[in-house]
Amino acid sequence: MTMLRKMSITICALFLFLGSFIISQAADFNIASYGGKPDGDITDALTKAWTDACAATDASKILVGAGTYMMNAVDLRGPCKAPSIELQVDGLIQAPADPAELKGADQWVKIGYVNAFTLSGTGTFDGQGPAAWKANDCIHNPKCDWPTMNFGFNFINNSFVKGVTSKDSKNFHVNVLSCNNFNFDGFNISAPEDSPNTDGIHIGRSNGVVVANTHIGTGDDCVSLGDGNTNITVVNVYCGPGHGISVGSLGRYDNEAPVSDVKVRNCTISNTMNGVRIKTWPGTPGAITVSDMHFEDIIMNNVSNPVIIDQEYCPSNQCDKSTPSKIKISNVTFTNISGTSQTQEGVLLICSSGVPCDNVQLNNINLTFNGAEVTAKCANVKPTVTGTVPACAA
Ligand SMILES: *[C@@H]1O[C@H](CO)[C@@H](O)[C@H](O)[C@H]1NC(C)=O
Ligand SMILES: *[C@@H]1O[C@H](CO)[C@@H](O)[C@H](O)[C@H]1NC(C)=O
Ligand SMILES: *[C@@H]1O[C@H](CO)[C@@H](O)[C@H](O)[C@H]1NC(C)=O
Ligand SMILES: *[C@@H]1O[C@H](CO)[C@@H](O)[C@H](O)[C@H]1NC(C)=O
Ligand SMILES: *[C@@H]1O[C@H](CO)[C@@H](O)[C@H](O)[C@H]1NC(C)=O
Ligand SMILES: *[C@@H]1O[C@H](CO)[C@@H](O)[C@H](O)[C@H]1NC(C)=O
Ligand SMILES: *[C@@H]1O[C@H](CO)[C@@H](O)[C@H](O)[C@H]1NC(C)=O
Ligand SMILES: *[C@@H]1O[C@H](CO)[C@@H](O)[C@H](O)[C@H]1NC(C)=O
Repeated sequence: MTMLRKMSITICALFLFLGSFIISQAADFNIASYGGKPDGDITDALTKAWTDACAATDASKILVGAGTYMMNAVDLRGPCKAPSIELQVDGLIQAPADPAELKGADQWVKIGYVNAFTLSGTGTFDGQGPAAWKANDCIHNPKCDWPTMNFGFNFINNSFVKGVTSKDSKNFHVNVLSCNNFNFDGFNISAPEDSPNTDGIHIGRSNGVVVANTHIGTGDDCVSLGDGNTNITVVNVYCGPGHGISVGSLGRYDNEAPVSDVKVRNCTISNTMNGVRIKTWPGTPGAITVSDMHFEDIIMNNVSNPVIIDQEYCPSNQCDKSTPSKIKISNVTFTNISGTSQTQEGVLLICSSGVPCDNVQLNNINLTFNGAEVTAKCANVKPTVTGTVPACAA
């Protein structure tokens, strides 16, 4: 072999080595390389970065660095070639304050049809809700236009949301639909107590969702579980202000799927309208079952209805209360619930006269109202009790 030939082989090998190095580095997709700059609009930059990250054959990561950015609605979808995609946001991203600018998008940051997705970082997604809250008439107008939610996670498996904050959404903060093994860990949700319909995390038709170590302060339910959910865990969550942690409302529509296997553990609920609640509509077609609901180790501070099953849920009198709810509730435990109630009737178990609740257990319920033990009101249910528990009155 000539010296020249040897050298060219060495140079070739060097280029191959550098080339593979560059390719593995290319798994990072910084929006700055797509024209996304602080104080600018990153709608296109993020969408393009997603397209490339999704098409990559390695695990890929999209970066939104420190800084303040504007962004309109994005719809980031799979299926992706990349075995996993992380979106790391360390900056502050703001939605248009004027709801009309979102052009009717149901969700501002919509992510779907992916596997092994992670949303991470120390950043904040600010929905800039105040103008939309002012215009919201949904409480009186059932045909109102629902404003845009901050996040939609749709048809996603084996994924995480951690670290980031969702702030001042115009509507629900997060909607989780048809996801499997989806984890929120160290997430943060914040909106004022008087902001309408700003539910924290709503979960529907999903299996294996965990909401852990999350702080939720908002104007509506902190966590709400719609129909078709199973194997849902809410653990180490702080809720307040807000309307508490709810299963339901259910039964308003006739095509709903059952709800089962829900665990709410080690949570603190403060200054809220409800604590832990199951709510179903009367006078409506829905006839599913709700079973295996377990609420344990919950601390209530100044909560209006700390423990509540309400099968006569009928906001703004939009239903016929003369026909009972058709939803059958069974296998429910409320265990180790303590703290303070804002009302004397701290335990309300109002089950359906059509299908009474079965196997409801109350264990160690130590709730006080003005220093005295709360009372319990029960209808169409005979709870089994252990430990200190307020006695049922009809
Ligand atoms: C998620 O899991 C469901 C159920 O196993 C499957 O049907 C669906 O294709 C999966 N979706 C993705 C994006 O991997
Ligand atoms: C949650 O978000 C609020 C509002 O942005 C902020 O004040 C608070 O520090 C955040 N908490 C955490 C734990 O990130
Ligand atoms: C319940 O969800 C967890 C993930 O949160 C998952 O690991 C487990 O397999 C699920 N169990 C069933 C029975 O689907
Ligand atoms: C329960 O929650 C508290 C406060 O959030 C936390 O410090 C503690 O580690 C949690 N305990 C368990 C067993 O998860
Ligand atoms: C009790 O909670 C209500 C909201 O439900 C709040 O307005 C009030 O300030 C709270 N009281 C205390 C003493 O924290
Ligand atoms: C309620 O629990 C009992 C005992 O664990 C079980 O046999 C029954 O199937 C459960 N009912 C429902 C509707 O899950
Ligand atoms: C409830 O509290 C009792 C007494 O503090 C404790 O022994 C038990 O393990 C707790 N149960 C649950 C399910 O946390
Ligand atoms: C109930 O809680 C209070 C403090 O909130 C405590 O002093 C009392 O010992 C508790 N009672 C029982 C039976 O655990």
